[in-house]
Amino acid sequence: MDGNGRWAKKRLMPRIAGHKRGVEMIREMSRACARRGVEYLTLFAFSSENWRRPEEEVSLLMDLFRYALQHEVRNLHESRVRLKVIGDLSRFDPQLVQLIQYSEQMTAGNTGLTLTVAANYGGRWDVLQAVARLLAQRPELAGQPLSEEMLAPYLTMHYAPEPDLFIRTGGEQRVSNFLLWQLAYSELYFTPTLWPDFNEAALELAITSYQQRERRFGRTSEQLEACKG
Ligand code: IPE
Ligand code: MG
Repeated sequence: MDGNGRWAKKRLMPRIAGHKRGVEMIREMSRACARRGVEYLTLFAFSSENWRRPEEEVSLLMDLFRYALQHEVRNLHESRVRLKVIGDLSRFDPQLVQLIQYSEQMTAGNTGLTLTVAANYGGRWDVLQAVARLLAQRPELAGQPLSEEMLAPYLTMHYAPEPDLFIRTGGEQRVSNFLLWQLAYSELYFTPTLWPDFNEAALELAITSYQQRERRFGRTSEQLEACKG
């Protein structure tokens, strides 16, 4: 979700106004995805590198995160959304962590869209914590060849299939340490549209682009045609 700051700047507003608008777009996007039958929506809200921002912006972002959890989770719950938060929560205020846990528990039984928010998340951190937890639980594996299947249950997104489509708003064309492991075969879509402007029509364009791609997973076009026939 990139581009909040630039969206605000264009309107001569403080950056936090862009972040607020960005949170509103989460609601809109969750609804749009649910309507289209999307089962998993995963949003990169705050990276492990975002702590490097000015202290005031970090602190306002934390306030906004808390506010959103306090005020939006009931709506999400009513829309049958299951909320998950992934990332290293150890750096967050304990009260915020409690609020996250409460929100996850409240929505855990919901069968609609699974909305995952990545907070203090980094793709490299994810792989490292998975390896560490695997070896802590199965010390006999140290020095042995590991398989992807062994590691999978320890990755933070173990409950979801790998993403079909990755969207980055705001014009930058990079993955920025998001779901590194899980994006191996995802279709990548980059748009100059700023996140606060990324509405349902913009989502439709992204999905249309996705539908025109051929996902070969290493195979040839001819092999795929033979399977279809
Ligand atoms: C993305 O918007 C939101 C967060 C990383 C919290 P930015 O804050 O990166 O917005 P720009 O890139 O400055 O426009
Ligand atoms: Mg940015």
